[in-house]
Amino acid sequence: MPDSSLQLSRIQAGLVTTRLGANLHHLLETDSTNKVARQLAENGAADGEIVIAEQQSAGRGRLGRSWVSPPFVNLYISFILRPRLAPVDAPQVTLAAAVALADAVAAFIPMQPTIKWPNDILVGGKKLAGILTESSCSAERLEFVILGIGVNLNFPVRAMPEEIRQRASSLLELRGQPVDRESFICRLIHDLDRCYGILQESGFAAVAARWQSYFALHRRLVRVEMIDQTIVGHAQGIDRDGALIIERENGARERILAGDVIPVED
Ligand code: BTN
Repeated sequence: MPDSSLQLSRIQAGLVTTRLGANLHHLLETDSTNKVARQLAENGAADGEIVIAEQQSAGRGRLGRSWVSPPFVNLYISFILRPRLAPVDAPQVTLAAAVALADAVAAFIPMQPTIKWPNDILVGGKKLAGILTESSCSAERLEFVILGIGVNLNFPVRAMPEEIRQRASSLLELRGQPVDRESFICRLIHDLDRCYGILQESGFAAVAARWQSYFALHRRLVRVEMIDQTIVGHAQGIDRDGALIIERENGARERILAGDVIPVED
């Protein structure tokens, strides 16, 4: 491994968790950590196994987008999770992960991060991290969830591709100095271990309340752009499926399952 790559021993030494990270796979390069994690899960990998790559050649984002994944500066991590949940409740894992990710980011910067529904982490309106969850079900059982997280750590904005430069940020930019990647990874795994534990032991309500506290657009007028239509209304938070509730001007409430949410000036 090159000098600039992560030191696995430092991550392992810093981990104090109950569920996550007993087995950690560290790759120099791969197409997508989510893809590798899915293959491992299909071959029987246990709850809590982790795949980290230094670089992805085909990093995947939500809604079929790609995730910019240069080497040795960021975090590309996928967790194999086997939660005791019904398939319809699988989105709750993503919401718990968004809370954990926001908690971890908050520990490294003096500003407050926010969650942009469903699970982007923004600071000062710019995207710092994203989550892509893929699940596998058979009959009525949730077999596994692949929870993929990408975080811009020591990625200078000037080095970002033109198309994301205006909308994205990194911990490097927000702190004015590089972040120790191993420390951030330990903190994220620790926070996810805690939030995943709360979800499994106490249920979704506790996680939803924390999610709502990070949701910047609560009660704000928003425009929701979906594949086939755009609607305007006041964002009312999430329901137990992770759907965004929008109250239209006529009082009708709509459940949004996928789309982009943009604030509108009242
Ligand atoms: C998004 O905001 O669009 C989600 C981005 C998720 C990116 C991460 S990086 C690690 C994992 N592997 C992938 O291919 N995607 C996720």
